[in-house]
Amino acid sequence: MKLSIYGAGRVGATTAFAILEKRLFDEIVLVDINKSLAEGEAMDLLHSTPFLKRTIIRSGNAEDITGSDVIIITAGASQKEGETRLQLLDRNVGIIQKIADEIKQYSPQSIVINVTNPVDVLTYVLWKRLETDSAKVLGTGTILDTARLRSLIGINCQVSPVSVHAYVIGEHGDSEVVAWSAATIGGVKIKEFCNCCDRKNCLGLEKIEEEVRNAAYEIIKRKGATNYAIAQATANFVESILKDEQRVWTPSVLYEDIYIGYPAIVGRQGVQRIIPLQLSREEEQKFIHSCEIIRNTLRQLKA
Ligand code: 2OP
Repeated sequence: MKLSIYGAGRVGATTAFAILEKRLFDEIVLVDINKSLAEGEAMDLLHSTPFLKRTIIRSGNAEDITGSDVIIITAGASQKEGETRLQLLDRNVGIIQKIADEIKQYSPQSIVINVTNPVDVLTYVLWKRLETDSAKVLGTGTILDTARLRSLIGINCQVSPVSVHAYVIGEHGDSEVVAWSAATIGGVKIKEFCNCCDRKNCLGLEKIEEEVRNAAYEIIKRKGATNYAIAQATANFVESILKDEQRVWTPSVLYEDIYIGYPAIVGRQGVQRIIPLQLSREEEQKFIHSCEIIRNTLRQLKA
């Protein structure tokens, strides 16, 4: 099993570390325009393998991605304080197009997972450029936002996030939507769960939603970037794909004419199918609005 990761910055390196711990791959290649950085990260990671499993981990060029089962893209500019993800588009679109050309040339059969922001717009650009089956081109979408939501509900409601089933859908960005209508704790609809709970210091669902939406801004304000949760999200996503678990995730998938975060069953062949959610009228409106934002951004890009 072979993995290639484009981008050896904080997200790429932390993702490599999280994936290495899962003992999934025999070979991991790090590709970065900063060759010295990729080399240094690969050396450091290689030295951790005696505690895990034999893995050849090295830095490489485009041709070294040949024969990858999975390719993860984290390369590109990341948000600075106060910047939105959509504002990164001009800086990152060229990078994604170049990477797409390299994948097409050297490893066209791979499952490709894009993490680079704005993830929904760029995953669409990637898919178009690769001219391949959309099932095999995915973005991390709202997987991270969904994890943030589940962890905040867990802390607030004093329940394990593992027992919380709730999704953030839409743009991985400011217009994302929490599908509260479909959210459950231990199989009980969240609004019913709230009705029989008398916690005094409950944040309330609106505040939780706001904290999820602003999480990246708040983290970037404090430490300059986000890396751990996105790395865990990506590592677990890759693991479930390789093991053909058919788990439901909220990756960025082809939905009508755009890529956007939506629940989908994912396995070894990529996206198996999308799961239609029962949304309230208000949630539906917000989701349509989020789709429009992605659609308009793509339109401007094409113009
Ligand atoms: C995040 O949500 C910045 O998209 C990145 O952490």
